[in-house]
Amino acid sequence: MKILTLESTCDETAAAIVEASDTGNSEIGVLASVVASQTELHVEFKGVVPEIAARAHVERILPVIQRVVEESGIELKDLDAIAVANTPGLSGSLLVGLMAAKSLCLGLDKPLLAVNHLQAHIYACQLESQESIYPCVGMIVSGGHSHLYRFRDALDAEYLGGTIDDAAGEAFDKVATMLGLPYPGGPEVSRVAQSGDETAWSFPRSFIHEDRLDFSFSGLKTAVRYAIAGPGKTDFASVTLDDQQVADLAASFQAAVVDCLVTKALQAVRQTGLKQLCVGGGVAANRRFRGQLTEACKEANVLLHIAPSQFCTDNAVMGAIAVERYRAGLFESLDLDIHPGLVRVPHQR
Ligand code: KG4
Ligand code: ZN
Repeated sequence: MKILTLESTCDETAAAIVEASDTGNSEIGVLASVVASQTELHVEFKGVVPEIAARAHVERILPVIQRVVEESGIELKDLDAIAVANTPGLSGSLLVGLMAAKSLCLGLDKPLLAVNHLQAHIYACQLESQESIYPCVGMIVSGGHSHLYRFRDALDAEYLGGTIDDAAGEAFDKVATMLGLPYPGGPEVSRVAQSGDETAWSFPRSFIHEDRLDFSFSGLKTAVRYAIAGPGKTDFASVTLDDQQVADLAASFQAAVVDCLVTKALQAVRQTGLKQLCVGGGVAANRRFRGQLTEACKEANVLLHIAPSQFCTDNAVMGAIAVERYRAGLFESLDLDIHPGLVRVPHQR
């Protein structure tokens, strides 16, 4: 089967064409993949502006589809189905992808498949693994999400816990702004942290000594703000930091986030008794996180799968999870809707 997958949940407009056998567990081939980033549109706002993102998707979705078809060497009529991420994400952004997918289905008389964006982030790990990555603990750490799930299989995820305020990537982005670093902040904080002393500041690590599988990064964010502006003060914008101060703050902040993420991931594995841990999402590209998690999993004898770096941030190749739905006969009617906030509920099966 050949499937066109569309991804427009946040601020990347992406399309991919993947190929797999109709049954069985054979490898999934990627015929083409295109990602049109909108970063330059959101830089001045230091975060994704939903309305701008939706309008940009409208402009980009058709050229992106056209390009991916050209690069794949196949024609639209050769497709067996169209898949689209319809949950979770920004409403306006999700709608653009869904409408494009439905229009193609209608025009080409092809079946429609739904993709859960969070399940897809975990499926990115499957694309590199010869063995099944399921059952596993799945951890999604991105700009919009920091969640832990028990995955019984690719399409069956039970919510275990997650952030009660900011997502990890969101915290990286906001702290980057406080440190005068450009958006998106994750890669920038990670870069400057390399020359910093992570013991320079002792930042809070929420819930780290508790059993609950939750995260909170808002206290950490406030602690960084006080560290810059002075105790009890919040006006960080008028403070000038030298390069070493920025590096030390970045390194100490990153160490706190990574400690929380690694601790909770390992707790989730222990509490569920599962043997595999799979991690996806933009923050999974963080080198310090990858390194510390790899060490911790080795020590705890846990089989770790981290999504390949190019498939950590949003892309449509991870939408290859649609292959599983195709094989299971889980096709959608053209009534399919978006579900922007569906994080705790198992996806439609
Ligand atoms: O998965 P993603 O592309 O989009 C969402 O679904 O949110 O993740 C984007 C997030 C941003 O917050 C970005 O700052 C963060 O991932 N990120 C990183 C790194 N690369 C991207 N955070 C920390 N370290 C990185 N190297
Ligand atoms: Zn994502």
